[in-house]
Amino acid sequence: MKTRITELFGIEHPIIQGGMHYVGFAELAAAVSNAGGLGIITGLTQRTPELLADEIRRCRAMTDQPFGVNLTFLPALAAPDYPGYVRAIIDGGVKIVETAGNNPQKWLPALQDAGVKVIHKCTSVRHALKAQSIGCDAASVDGFECGGHPGEDDVPNFILLPRAADELAIPFVASGGMADGRSLVAALALGADGMNMGTRFIATQEAPVHDNVKRAIVAATELDTRLVMRPLRNTERVLNNAAVERLLDKERSLGASLKFEDILGEVAGVYPRIMQGGEMDAGAWSCGMVAGLIHDIPSVKQLIDRIMAEAHAIIGERLAKLSAR
Ligand SMILES: Cc1cc2nc3c(=O)[nH]c(=O)nc-3n(C[C@H](O)[C@H](O)[C@H](O)COP(=O)(O)O)c2cc1C
Repeated sequence: MKTRITELFGIEHPIIQGGMHYVGFAELAAAVSNAGGLGIITGLTQRTPELLADEIRRCRAMTDQPFGVNLTFLPALAAPDYPGYVRAIIDGGVKIVETAGNNPQKWLPALQDAGVKVIHKCTSVRHALKAQSIGCDAASVDGFECGGHPGEDDVPNFILLPRAADELAIPFVASGGMADGRSLVAALALGADGMNMGTRFIATQEAPVHDNVKRAIVAATELDTRLVMRPLRNTERVLNNAAVERLLDKERSLGASLKFEDILGEVAGVYPRIMQGGEMDAGAWSCGMVAGLIHDIPSVKQLIDRIMAEAHAIIGERLAKLSAR
């Protein structure tokens, strides 16, 4: 299946694995790229640019296919060494970067001069138009359903994607709620050039996370996520658990006076304990509503092959029959 996204990134299938904190290590990125999608290493999960350089080398040893690095610009008190991370990406010969969290304009000249294609993750049409106007090569449009940070507009993908298609000239992928061949065909029908998945890729054999995390996703339904940190305008969709209930109690009782410091216990530094230690109640962790569509833990290749076979069957059989005269 050829789309503007497969052409832009030189990949076989229009399927991207979005950056995920403490999930997007070389093992997962390489597995996705080897299966014909685009795997992405999560830059900031590597604590220093040197560690990111090592992770890029590890990934290159596992795949000869294109892979990318996610650079998330966070509202952090002490900013990470972004110039160092950008250098590690360029020196490591990575040609695709997924930016997220904030306007990437400052970093575009260095990246694009080095031949790096930039796909910016956006949760609104206005942010996607901004990304296009500053010269991003593509956009990843994340609807309200998505795991992680859906922004503050709450527009689901059935509206957001056709709106993006109406406005954007650059290629874009649908992100948030994508799980299977039906998602891919729907994304294409709504005007996207492919799809990006987060939560679905965690429940795979190769995702280097504790089995408890994979099992929690399989057990969850579409009713089991919650939105946290809305009062801080840093909304995150997470899987409900004891820590999330505690966090939401604090949000209710403190109201508008809530500060980030009040919820440090539930959100700060919890990812390694959850993703590697399997302590499922250690804190709030991103998870999409799409958990309700995830019922197994296949290998990445089985998952991607299944998605493509299902998509081709829907287009070539079900839809073809419907439109036959
Ligand atoms: C556990 C987890 C961690 C994530 N971490 C990041 C991150 O560090 N940076 C980022 O840009 N997106 C992050 N995301 C968002 C994903 O890249 C992707 O946009 C999102 O998961 C898509 O929605 P879906 O989960 O419904 O597929 C994360 C998502 C999950 C589930």
